[in-house]
Order: sequence, then structure tokens, then C-alpha cells
Amino acid sequence: MDTHTEHSGAPLPAPVAVVRGAEGDSPVYIGRGLLARAGEIAAGAVRGRRALVVADTNVGPLHLAPLLASLRAAGFEAERHAIPAGEASKSLAELERLWGALHRAGITRTDLVVALGGGVTGDLAGFAAATWLRGVAAMQVPTSLLAFVDSSIGGKTAIDVPFGKNLVGAFHQPVAVVGDPDVLRTLPPRERGQGMAEAVKTACIRDADLLSFLRSVAGRPLSGEETERVVAGCARIKADVVNRDEREGGLRMILNFGHTVGHAVEKVLGYGAVPHGEAVSVGMVAAAKLGERLGETPAGTAEALAELLAAFSLPTRVADLPGGAACGPDALFAAMLSDKKKLGAKIHFVLLEGWGRAKSVPLDPAAVRGALPAVL
Ligand code: GLY
Repeated sequence: MDTHTEHSGAPLPAPVAVVRGAEGDSPVYIGRGLLARAGEIAAGAVRGRRALVVADTNVGPLHLAPLLASLRAAGFEAERHAIPAGEASKSLAELERLWGALHRAGITRTDLVVALGGGVTGDLAGFAAATWLRGVAAMQVPTSLLAFVDSSIGGKTAIDVPFGKNLVGAFHQPVAVVGDPDVLRTLPPRERGQGMAEAVKTACIRDADLLSFLRSVAGRPLSGEETERVVAGCARIKADVVNRDEREGGLRMILNFGHTVGHAVEKVLGYGAVPHGEAVSVGMVAAAKLGERLGETPAGTAEALAELLAAFSLPTRVADLPGGAACGPDALFAAMLSDKKKLGAKIHFVLLEGWGRAKSVPLDPAAVRGALPAVL
């Protein structure tokens, strides 16, 4: 059956990585010009021909038109749904509004939800897809660097609730991730930095070569080709980690490097007050210092890491963050205790064993509290 008669004629590029999820394969396509071919990819991934594209009020005006045109050219009846830009949209209220839009668009079990945007849109639309009719297909079309290198891949979806970030969600692998690096050209520099923090994280835990490459380009704007190399490299690493541990029973936890302190900072300052990547940046340096104190991380790692992050204009100390004075050891410790990474009586930290090597370590809360003043 040939459902893609409208495509440009050229064969689709091979995916740069494939997540082999319990519910099926989730290929990650990265390539310039792919936004215009998203419809073709979607048509090969689902049987239905209705799609609802979710985009926020910043991204919609920039990238929605070519995506809708591509879906329609591939035979989809495609509708759009707008959400307000910002972390506050990962809410139960926005989820309910989105379920309403899925109902009105007549999305059935064989149809498609498309998340066009960054981490917030991907999480909300992905969770709506995971829950609507007990699960319909989702396609992730990342538009932020953070979504390219991390959040669009691997099937984590969630909303925030008053007790914490990402506490309600589901694993729901997208039927495809379609990343067109051309969309990154419109990205404001501070937002680009958020993605670089996650790229540095990904390289630190798994790929010393990618880390060397990041060092070689730090401190200046990346060319299109360099950006593509970073996002494809991160996509491969992320897919590999998820393939070994889809449900975060063990290895996948290393993707949380920098996130124990990072999430605590976000919680104390209020979600959305500090960008996620900046909180993670500070958290990675703190985790490296902690690792050095515990003898797990080679001496000098924290300093070298801080230098690299600073070269990408990222903060490296809690005190550098706007309002960071509120993040004293007591406040952060209380936030950590309520975080979902506290499994049983322990607080889980991801520690670097060297460049490109990491492990998740359960630590006694008292030991963490004792070390906090020195590592912040
Ligand atoms: N962002 C961490 C993960 O997907 O596991």
C-alpha cells in the first residue's frame, strides 16, 4: 500500500536512532527539511488519517503552517490546538482542555497527536495521547534544543501537580520523533543554552568524544552542521540508554545527572521561575563536587565541568540563579526529600566516575544534608 504519493520523491533518510519500546519501534529522524516531510512519516506510522497538532503560542506562529501543510498533503485531516507558552501549561487544567480538543477533532484509536514544540508541549501532548482512549499514537516534533537532545526521545510524558513536577505521567513512546534542525535557527540564545545543558549532561554520562567536541565549540555560536552533530549524537545516546532500560529500573536513571539538585532548585524557586536547563547546570556541578567528596568522581571534574558550562553561558552555582539566595541547604534538602528520586529511605544522586561514565548511587539523607553546604 502506497500512502505517501505526495512526498518530495526523495527517499526518507534513515533514522539516526531507534528506541525499541515495549509497544513498538520509535524511530528518531533528524535532518534539515524534515518538517515538510513529517506528514509522510506520520502516514507510514499510523493507520488513521486524523491528527491534532499541539503547539504553544510562541511556536505555533513559527512552525505550525509547514507542519499542517505536510500532514494535509499526506492525506490527514489535521487540526491545531494552542496552549499558552510556559511550564504552567503542564497542568491538569490544560490536559483537560486538550482532551476536549481531541474529542472535538474526533481523534480515534488509529489517529495521531502531534507535539510541535519544546519539553512542555511534548510532555503535555504526550501524556494526553497516552491517556486519550487509553492510548493513541503520538509523534514528537521538537523545536527546542532541549527537546531535540532529551525530552522528545524516550517516551516520558507528564504533567506537574501542586505536590511536585512530573509526578503524574506515563511512559508512551512516540511513533516517531521528527527533528528538523532548521527550526533551531529561530531559537533565542538563552533557550539554546537550556539545550546545551542537557547536551553536556548526555555527553558527561556516556560519551567522552561528544564531550570533547562540545569543548571544542564552547563559547561561540554553533554552525548548522555542528548543531546537527550534537543533536544526532545525543539522540543516539539517549536511545541507547532507553533501549537498555525503558522503564527506568536502573541504567536510565543516569539521564538524571544534575537533576536531584536541579529539581530541588526548581521546586524551591517555583516551577518556571528558573529555566530547567539552568537548574540542571547548577545541579551537575553540585553532583560532581559531591562525587569528588565521596571519592567516586576524579578530582578536578567539577571545576572542568563548571568551566565548560560557563562557556555556554550557563550558571554553575545556586547563588548565580535569580532568587538563588532562597536555595539554602535546608530548603533544597526538604525539596529533595519530597522528590520522586528518593526511593525508599535514600536520595538518589547520579555521580560521574569519569568523563562519559556515570552511576546512580543511593545516599543516606543525613550524609547528603551534611555535604550540601560544601557542594552548593
Ligand atoms: N529526561 C530523562 C529521561 O528521559 O529519562
